[in-house]
Amino acid sequence: MDSTRHPRPAADPTADATTEAELFWERHYRTRRTGGARVNPVLAETAAPLRPGTALDLGCGAGGDTLWLARRGWHVTAVDISGTAVGRVREEARELGLADRVAAEQHDLAHSFPAGRFDLVSAQYFQTPFALPRARVLRTAAQALRPGGLLLIVDHGSTAPWSWNQDTDIHHPTPTETAAELDLDPGQWSVLRADMPHRRATGPAGETATVIDNVLLLGRTPTDDRRTSVR
Ligand SMILES: C[S@@+](CC[C@H](N)C(=O)[O-])C[C@H]1O[C@@H](n2cnc3c(N)ncnc32)[C@H](O)[C@@H]1O
Repeated sequence: MDSTRHPRPAADPTADATTEAELFWERHYRTRRTGGARVNPVLAETAAPLRPGTALDLGCGAGGDTLWLARRGWHVTAVDISGTAVGRVREEARELGLADRVAAEQHDLAHSFPAGRFDLVSAQYFQTPFALPRARVLRTAAQALRPGGLLLIVDHGSTAPWSWNQDTDIHHPTPTETAAELDLDPGQWSVLRADMPHRRATGPAGETATVIDNVLLLGRTPTDDRRTSVR
């Protein structure tokens, strides 16, 4: 996204943030209560039939997806640029008795990427008003998949009425555009799903609206005839 067109909040002088992007997201989470966040519907639909393994939640935010996966037996690495968001996910996992299944790490994914190999990498609305080498990050994520693993990328396809960002110039990347940007070797990764479903969503005050999700699901080719484990 073009960072010059988006309104920015004033800097929070109490933040330890070192970049404009970190400062923005740090302030975003410091000014919001985030406990008990809900799982994103496309992640739930995709992961529900899978046998739990290792997962990576890119831009975990309030942690609804991480905690949902951990409750189902996944070992999740949850990553965000905001130390506040990461600290809250770690704390909520501890309170829920899930500390041994959740590793919450602060990374600016433009500069560092967590170690490990994953059965599932999830990037849910990994969108920011700041410059981000998104294609490079998502290609690194694809490389971090185990053979047979899945990379699920869900972007906003429309702007919800309750979104903090009501910029009418926002371009929502389509699944086809994202796949083209990633430019992955079709011999190693295949597109399992690329569509733009509509769903009824509920906002923070209980209001509802129809929103669009841009969904891209990629699978890493198994090294032998094993396929992604399904119960
Ligand atoms: C639109 S929010 C989505 C949060 C969460 N995945 C969800 O579905 O609610 C985007 C998230 O990406 C994180 N983020 C933005 N830029 C980042 C970066 N460079 N490195 C790591 N995380 C980043 C933000 O802090 C924020 O939590």
